[in-house]
Formats: sequence, structure tokens, C-alpha cells
Amino acid sequence: MIGGSLKHSKDIMTESFSHVPVMIREVTELLNLKSGATVVDCTLGLGGHAQAMARVVGAEGRLIGIDQDREAIEKARERLKDFSGRLDIVRSNFRKLDDVLSSLGVSEVDGILFDLGVSSLQLDDAARGFSFRSEGPLDMRMDQDMPVSAFELINSLSEEEIGNLLWRYGEERFSRRIATTIVRARSARAIETTKDLVDVILRALPYRVSRDGVHPATRSFQAIRIAVNQELDVLTMALDAALAHVKVGGRMCVIAFHSLEDRIVKEKFRGFAKEGRAVLLTKKPLRPTDGEAGENPRSRSARVRALERIG
Ligand SMILES: C[S@@+](CC[C@H](N)C(=O)[O-])C[C@H]1O[C@@H](n2cnc3c(N)ncnc32)[C@H](O)[C@@H]1O
Repeated sequence: MIGGSLKHSKDIMTESFSHVPVMIREVTELLNLKSGATVVDCTLGLGGHAQAMARVVGAEGRLIGIDQDREAIEKARERLKDFSGRLDIVRSNFRKLDDVLSSLGVSEVDGILFDLGVSSLQLDDAARGFSFRSEGPLDMRMDQDMPVSAFELINSLSEEEIGNLLWRYGEERFSRRIATTIVRARSARAIETTKDLVDVILRALPYRVSRDGVHPATRSFQAIRIAVNQELDVLTMALDAALAHVKVGGRMCVIAFHSLEDRIVKEKFRGFAKEGRAVLLTKKPLRPTDGEAGENPRSRSARVRALERIG
């Protein structure tokens, strides 16, 4: 199933957009789109996957792109400007997929893609506050209009709530220690920047944990980002809505980047298969080749699952 060639994939990866689309060949083949197909990219980002899909569906096809990030929408619009098929770019949360499609008068589509998580556009911009590697405001909102940022969570949740959040969404085994240190630190002064938070986390962790290769703030930052954007709840809801809009014979593909996301996708997909509504195209998730993992570090944790709707 996997291994055929995708025309233009090299161009797509080397064009002047910094976010390299992950496992683009595998995703395109799994979606098995034909000329004239209608496809939804629920996580448009910088439009890398969308551009590849646009080339397959062609002038007779239709591409619907959704992203909640204002800047991503602008960049993707620019990247897709030469697409000669029908293009609809909508700034929205994919939790509202039903509303987005009904506002466009679309009920069934041939393919749906989710490429979860943050883009390098978001991660690399210190002002967005996603990265523990650069100093910026404690923000982490993918949708810049959302009312609650990481600052509010970190400076107002109780110690117990912070501990639970770090454990549930980051599987951080020192969640309680970090929560205690956060609450102690903020009683002197608000935790305002990513660097403030990294410093607090480093203070909370035992020496050996800070030196084991993975940045000690990785799990906490993942957890806070998931909480700010309510990523897991949104994903659970969206997968149900998405399957309902895939036509029989159509396909859905999801790229997950950590085990919590992938577990949701795996369980949902298995449930759909058990109900006789879908067949799984990936019994186990596909992983990037060594070549891709070497060239694009972001791809290393990617897990791709796909299904075909049958009923
Ligand atoms: C990994 S990037 C996608 C990159 C894209 N596939 C590309 O090739 O450029 C994920 C994007 O999904 C968006 N996103 C994440 N969760 C979302 C949600 N619930 N609703 C809408 N957009 C979301 C993010 O804002 C980000 O731009």
C-alpha cells in the first residue's frame, strides 16, 4: 500500500516554507485521493499537506482547509494561491467541523486529514510562548482569541489542579513536586514568561532528571499546551464528527505526535471498526523512515493511522 511515488513531493518539502510536512508520502497514499475529490485538511498549518492534496485532487477537486491560528491561515492562503480547484479556507476550531461543513453546504467528503499539535510557525515564534527553548510570554494559545492562556492556568489553578494537569497531560512523574514549586514561586511573583516557568521546573526536579538528555521541561510544557488548547477533548469529539462526514469508500488519516493523542485515535478507530463503520488501513501506526526522522526531527514522534469508511 505504501511505497509508490508522489509527484512533486520533493518540491513541496523544499519550498520556502519552514514547516516541513510530516510523512507526506504515506499520508497522501493512505488518503488515496483521486482527481476531482473533495478533501478536508482540519489542521491546515502552513499548508504543506494541503498543497500535496491539492495537486492530487486538481482543478476539478475541492480543498477545505481549517485552522484556528490566524497566522497559519494567512500563510496557507498564500501557499495555496495557485490551486485551480475550489478552495475554502476557514478559521475555526476543528471541534466545529459540522458547522464549518454545513456553512459550506458540504455533507460528505472523500478524505479528511488531521496533522495534530503545533506547527513550527507556532513553536519557533518566541512570542507565542510554546517553546521552553526561547523566552516569551507564557501564552501557548493556538487560537490567539481564546480567553485563557498558559499564564492564567499557571498563575491561578490550585496546586492540586496543576499537579493533576501535569500528570494527566504530560505523564510527568514529578508532577506534584513541580506543582508545589510553581505555587511557592508565584506567591512571591507571577510566573510571566516561558523562562520563568523553565527556571521553576528546573528548581523542582532532582539533579539527575535535569541531565538525562530530554529537556526537563518537555513534559510540563506539553501538558500545559494540551490543557490551554483542550486538545484531547477536542480531538475525541472531532473524530466522531469527522467519520460522519466521510463518504463510504472515503478515508480519514490522523498524524499524532504523542502517546496520549495516539491512544485516543487508536481507541476511536477500533470502536468505528467494531461498529462496522470502518476498516483500519493501519493495524499499527506508521512511523517515519530513518531518512525522514534524520532530516526532520519533528517527524520522529509521528504516528500515522488511517481508516476507510465502509458503512
Ligand atoms: C502540525 S500543524 C499542521 C501543519 C500542516 N499539516 C502543514 O503541512 O503545514 C497543526 C496545525 O493545526 C492547528 N490546530 C491544532 N489543533 C486545532 C484545532 N483543534 N482546530 C483547528 N486547528 C488546529 C494548529 O494551529 C496548527 O497550525
